[in-house]
Amino acid sequence: MAKDKSIFTCTECGGTSARWMGKCPSCNAWNTLIEASAEPAAGKNRFGSVHASLAPTSEVLPLSQIEAADFERHPTGIDELDRVLGGGMVEGGVVLIGGDPGIGKSTLLLQAVDALQRSGMNTLYVTGEESGAQVAMRSRRLGLPDSLVPVLPEIQLEKILHTLQSRKPNIAIIDSIQTVYSDQLTSAPGSVAQVRECAAHLTRTAKSTGTTIVLVGHVTKEGALAGPRVLEHMVDTVLYFEGDTHSNFRLIRAIKNRFGAVNEIGVFAMTEKGLKGVSNPSAIFLSQHTEPVPGSCVMVTLEGSRPLLVEIQALVDSGGPSPRRLSVGLERDRLAMLLAVLHRHAGVACMDQDVFVNAVGGVHIREPAADLAVMLAITSSLRGKPLPKGFIAFGEVGLAGEVRPAPRGQDRLKEAAKLGFKVAVVPKANAPKKNDKSFEGLTIYPVDRIEEAMQVVRGLD
Ligand code: TYD
Ligand code: MG
Repeated sequence: MAKDKSIFTCTECGGTSARWMGKCPSCNAWNTLIEASAEPAAGKNRFGSVHASLAPTSEVLPLSQIEAADFERHPTGIDELDRVLGGGMVEGGVVLIGGDPGIGKSTLLLQAVDALQRSGMNTLYVTGEESGAQVAMRSRRLGLPDSLVPVLPEIQLEKILHTLQSRKPNIAIIDSIQTVYSDQLTSAPGSVAQVRECAAHLTRTAKSTGTTIVLVGHVTKEGALAGPRVLEHMVDTVLYFEGDTHSNFRLIRAIKNRFGAVNEIGVFAMTEKGLKGVSNPSAIFLSQHTEPVPGSCVMVTLEGSRPLLVEIQALVDSGGPSPRRLSVGLERDRLAMLLAVLHRHAGVACMDQDVFVNAVGGVHIREPAADLAVMLAITSSLRGKPLPKGFIAFGEVGLAGEVRPAPRGQDRLKEAAKLGFKVAVVPKANAPKKNDKSFEGLTIYPVDRIEEAMQVVRGLD
């Protein structure tokens, strides 16, 4: 039985143990032991070709003699998805697509796979979460009652692999990797060991048959894919769905892409008939205040190649003995740092106050260019004074209180000017030349330090 052959390996140090323990006996890390089969399946090396998958020959050759064939791509016809993928699905590529339950992973993939099937590709949709009838119901809802996408309701890896080998589809969707299990392991579907083992086998199959495989992965409460590290290393492309399930907008972000740019985003709106691409998304994350309110500052963030205007909200309220610092869509550690800089360099003290900040619309802003907007929103909330109408700010703020430039500042300013914003506080190095006409209507205040930014804002009251 598989049970006798199981050993446990540590994901941190690679140490092994014959039984499961909470703590790795080699490196003392907690909860890092996961089950793996001790012996290769009879007669073959189970893992040999997973790691050698992209280089099937074992001959040593200089790089110049290795043919660098360009990847064959299959555009899905859904522009926003193709944009994050870097132009379409790559033959033999493995894409992992993660996101909260209900955010629209199955919807988008069904739309994509249907479009590919219609364009003459061979596809396969493996559903482990829903029955065939449920998938059929979704396809009706999406307005695709005549869809010819072959659906396989199955969760056993060996059977899925068999179907992949026999049908040789161009694209296969596995919805989701957490429901798939292999006979070779005793642990339950969804466990790290199962997810890792199944993903490894599917990856190997993708490389050897040229099938593009899309793995759907669920995100745990902590925001990581179950079995996160291992999966991210194994696959070629990792896409994450973001957005508030309560709002209609969804972002797809490429976290890793061996075949294209990372940090490119695709923007969609969830409609009655599935996800529709939003080709001009710059203004969708602005909440519509008729008059400016305290604690709100708009920033321009640069997502991949497109600038996006996002409202940052802050609420500062008197707190208890240990005041809270909470952030949604922004880094909390960074918030603590910004509060310290605000106190030390601009004399704005929030020591006894609860501070909450939020990036509107469920967007996650990872770039430090949000710093200035966060600090101005906090100050505005603390003073109870709104920033002027049509105000934007961006720029990284350092520990010494200096305001550092953001990449491609002029593109950000151009977008703000285009959308009718009137006043901008930006890092000096991002300010355009005096005679540049492309920012007309936008008064730009270049600043070098956070104190200066505060002064400018007070002067605008
Ligand atoms: P789904 O794709 O099932 O999410 P996931 O696979 O990520 O768990 O998305 C389901 C949600 O999307 C559900 O709440 C209903 C909504 N939805 C629409 O609003 N319009 C549609 O056309 C479809 C198919 C779903
Ligand atoms: Mg689903």
